[in-house]
Amino acid sequence: MNQKQIVLAGATGNLGQRVARELRIRGASVRAIVRPGTEFTRLSALRRQAVEIVEADLNVRAEIVSACQGASCVISTLLGLDKVLIDAQGALLDAAIEAQVPRFIPSDYAMDFTKIKPGTNRNFDLHRQFKAHLDLAAIRSTTILSGAFMHLLAGDAPLVLPKIKRVLYWGNDPNQPLDFTTMDDTAAYTAEAALDPDTPPILRIAGEQISAAGLAKVASELSGTPYHLFRGGGVERLRRLSRIIRVFTPDSESPFPIWQGMQYLYCMFEGSGRLTPLDNKRYPNLQWTGVQTVLKQVL
Ligand SMILES: NC(=O)c1ccc[n+]([C@@H]2O[C@H](COP(=O)([O-])OP(=O)(O)OC[C@H]3O[C@@H](n4cnc5c(N)ncnc54)[C@H](OP(=O)(O)O)[C@@H]3O)[C@@H](O)[C@H]2O)c1
Repeated sequence: MNQKQIVLAGATGNLGQRVARELRIRGASVRAIVRPGTEFTRLSALRRQAVEIVEADLNVRAEIVSACQGASCVISTLLGLDKVLIDAQGALLDAAIEAQVPRFIPSDYAMDFTKIKPGTNRNFDLHRQFKAHLDLAAIRSTTILSGAFMHLLAGDAPLVLPKIKRVLYWGNDPNQPLDFTTMDDTAAYTAEAALDPDTPPILRIAGEQISAAGLAKVASELSGTPYHLFRGGGVERLRRLSRIIRVFTPDSESPFPIWQGMQYLYCMFEGSGRLTPLDNKRYPNLQWTGVQTVLKQVL
């Protein structure tokens, strides 16, 4: 087994491409498992970085076992619902075990779903279900928990609202700390963890822990205009709203419908999934991007 041979599933995705890049920067050999028939142009960035591409169907055991041979770690950055997170990722796990790969990093990269009450967040329930299976598997695993991706702050999970100069918060405490990490920092940390043979079962990271009040201060300083706090309501109201919208939303395979984003916000402001203690310092060479850098691009 080559200690620097990493197998990556999900390498064509947002996070996966970054993980591949960070692994190559660290001198690892990367074998990306991609779907059969993936368009050639979608693979050009990976090819430029000398990533080995293996077309394989995650449902075909022999293909995946063969792709996993000789690896020191299998990383998953797959995204989807139960068919992907439980079934396809489960098949990848079984193949890694059969190929005698010693370590597995599942596709989690979220807030601390191990501490969040089951039934609160549909996606976290899937992550928890897979982790329960992984914990019993004959392979060492490391779940990487990174909070919300930082670019979502002013995007899909809008908290900073430039048009009305407000920062939205829910609940009674605008000083409730929230965890954010950029995708790039998450990818760099994941690459370090994949090359570290002694990782614990869970690693928690955050580029910055900042409250809604803290966000308003940063936004005010960056824009030169005061940003005020805007209370959406109590967290229970947010939960009820999410339930109502879910009832009226047709079922889909989308991992992030609006109501799921609201479940995510509920978990952030309710606070039980906070990341603590942090393992940022485990790899002291890493630099962490703060909220100010990310907000500067949008304000
Ligand atoms: N903390 C946060 O705020 C946050 C936000 C977003 C995502 N995430 C997490 O980050 C991770 C990666 O997300 P992402 O944004 O990088 O997702 P993405 O861009 O959609 O990439 C998903 C990857 O999974 C692959 N994939 C999905 N289903 C597959 C299947 N059945 N067979 C083979 N490959 C399959 C895709 O392949 P194709 O390209 O062929 O479709 C793609 O490479 C997930 O764990 C997600 O939960 C966290």
